[in-house]
Amino acid sequence: MCPILALDRHTISSIHSGQVITSIESIVKELLENSLDAKANNIDIRLVDDGLDTVEIRDDGSGITKTDCCNMARRHHTSKLTTFSDLDNISTYGFRGEALSSICELAEEVYITTKTEQDKVATCYKLDRKGGIKSENTAGTMYRSGTMVSIHRPFVNLPVRRQVAEKARTISIKRIQELAIKYGLSHPFLRLSLHQLHSTLGQLRKQPTWVKPSTSSLLEGVRIIYDSTLASMVEECSLEESFDQQLEPDVTSSPQPIRLHCLLPSKLSDPSYIFKGDRVFIYVNKRPINYAKSDLKEMVAMVRRRYKRTLDLDDDVRKVPFMYIDVQTGFGDYDVNIEPDKSVVMLLHKDRILTLFEDLLDRIYGSFFSQNRQNEVLEK
Ligand SMILES: Nc1ncnc2c1ncn2[C@@H]1O[C@H](COP(=O)(O)OP(=O)(O)OP(=O)(O)O)[C@@H](O)[C@H]1O
Ligand SMILES: [Mg+2]
Repeated sequence: MCPILALDRHTISSIHSGQVITSIESIVKELLENSLDAKANNIDIRLVDDGLDTVEIRDDGSGITKTDCCNMARRHHTSKLTTFSDLDNISTYGFRGEALSSICELAEEVYITTKTEQDKVATCYKLDRKGGIKSENTAGTMYRSGTMVSIHRPFVNLPVRRQVAEKARTISIKRIQELAIKYGLSHPFLRLSLHQLHSTLGQLRKQPTWVKPSTSSLLEGVRIIYDSTLASMVEECSLEESFDQQLEPDVTSSPQPIRLHCLLPSKLSDPSYIFKGDRVFIYVNKRPINYAKSDLKEMVAMVRRRYKRTLDLDDDVRKVPFMYIDVQTGFGDYDVNIEPDKSVVMLLHKDRILTLFEDLLDRIYGSFFSQNRQNEVLEK
């Protein structure tokens, strides 16, 4: 065996970047989250050749101040967290200061154009592979404030990753559309668009743009993104823990009650519509969660069971009904630092959440026990 030696910084950072940014979809996700953290109301995503040529995201958020620009893409530099204990109160999607630096490491070229309300003009920065500034120029007009991040030829120095991304074009676009829907639904006021362009013989050919306009409610978002039939078949319901339910001995929990905000299929819905496609939206404080890998997968099974029981459907219907569930809980009461993409959560009060959810399901579908009794009587 070779002697044990320290890796050089460049190798460490390249290996690490490949873990944070794994696909075109993960680039879009990180940039979308940055725009939302900057309180954007308008976000435009532009993909040239399915993102393999360019991924560009433009927002009307706060912009980045001139003094912060030299650090914006430096590894472990963030405006969202200062000490480890702040993690208990973090309300932003990002906090590690890793996304932009990883993207710089893995792409051929990265440009950030930004303007705060105080700036007279926008500035466009070309970044180097370490996230430092290579050059800067004044740029054309933007929103009153905002940021545009342009990434050219991602994964150019990771041949396997690039080839996989090329092969996975179709699925990757589908996932990006799903991402846009996930964030679009949980942010009704947000106007979000997805533009796709393809270069053929030096010309850019445009595909129809997907747009989610700003809406006044979650239900209106469902109507616009899907259709009014689906919107008419779902019921919106919110429920907050009572003071008694919050008491839990032996746990130093945040005093914030748990609240659920859901959109679930109504009793009178048409199952053929409700079971169409994969439309399961689970969030913790509006952060989309990979429910299959998280503590929350039980909630999905609960809805499925209750809905099928209410409509007296066959138990072997394996599909999952439409559902939107946002668990709102204290920022210190869950851990999203399990996987590099922060899509898996570990919850401190899983049991309390499930109990509250059972109550919410009772409101929509009637009490589980009375439902059981009814079924027993019918069976006799
Ligand atoms: N669209 C944007 N608008 C305003 N500021 C931005 C934008 N994108 C990035 N920033 C600034 O650049 C910093 C670095 O962004 P980056 O995504 O690398 O890290 P982060 O969001 O802090 O943490 P994470 O790595 O978990 O995403 C942010 O903390 C933020 O201050
Ligand atoms: Mg970020």
